[in-house]
Amino acid sequence: MAPRLTLRRAGAEDIRFVMAVEATPGHDAFINQQAEAEHAAQLASPAFAYFIAEAEAAPVGFAILSELTDRRGNHCLKRIAVAQPGRGFGTPLFNAVTDWTFANTAAHRFWLHALASNGRALHVYQREGFTIEGRLRQARPRPDGSREDLIILSLLRPEWQALRRRAA
Ligand SMILES: CC(C)(COP(=O)(O)OP(=O)(O)OC[C@H]1O[C@@H](n2cnc3c(N)ncnc32)[C@H](O)[C@@H]1OP(=O)(O)O)[C@@H](O)C(=O)NCCC(=O)NCCS
Repeated sequence: MAPRLTLRRAGAEDIRFVMAVEATPGHDAFINQQAEAEHAAQLASPAFAYFIAEAEAAPVGFAILSELTDRRGNHCLKRIAVAQPGRGFGTPLFNAVTDWTFANTAAHRFWLHALASNGRALHVYQREGFTIEGRLRQARPRPDGSREDLIILSLLRPEWQALRRRAA
């Protein structure tokens, strides 16, 4: 059974936790790290929303939404990560931010991208109903000078409504 998580909006006091999770060994292969000042500027921007997932009152992961001011209803999950992958926290966090987005914004298309090598994330996103839209070939440079494909996925509002109706 999925662990019980609560989702809350993050404040400036949560930036350190976000940065600590970004710096988790192994995460650097899949997510970027940002400086404290960049996080603070994003946190203060209406285009972004930061969330913290908690289990038993302790933070276990975060998610950052972007493009929330897009007038065409395309909102983005910029980053999602948990401190301890593989414990079942990422799936409810992912679903909670998806629900928040469709319930609290005019999003029609909620989208994200993942590195082609990120099998765990791609598995979770597709299992939870997201569709692969395409592949940005060699879009992401690696530290060793090679390049990797990015996979674009999305969920549309009618698809989200149908998924949650089925789950009810
Ligand atoms: C992606 C992430 C948020 C998912 O959260 P999580 O807590 O690890 O995910 P869960 O434990 O809920 O589920 C993991 C699923 O992936 C599967 N999995 C694990 N490794 C896998 C792999 N290499 N390939 C395919 N599936 C894999 C597990 O079997 C499980 O699926 P199942 O429940 O259907 O068996 C988390 O792994 C994470 O923070 N990763 C590092 C940062 C990152 O990659 N962020 C996403 C950037 S796009």
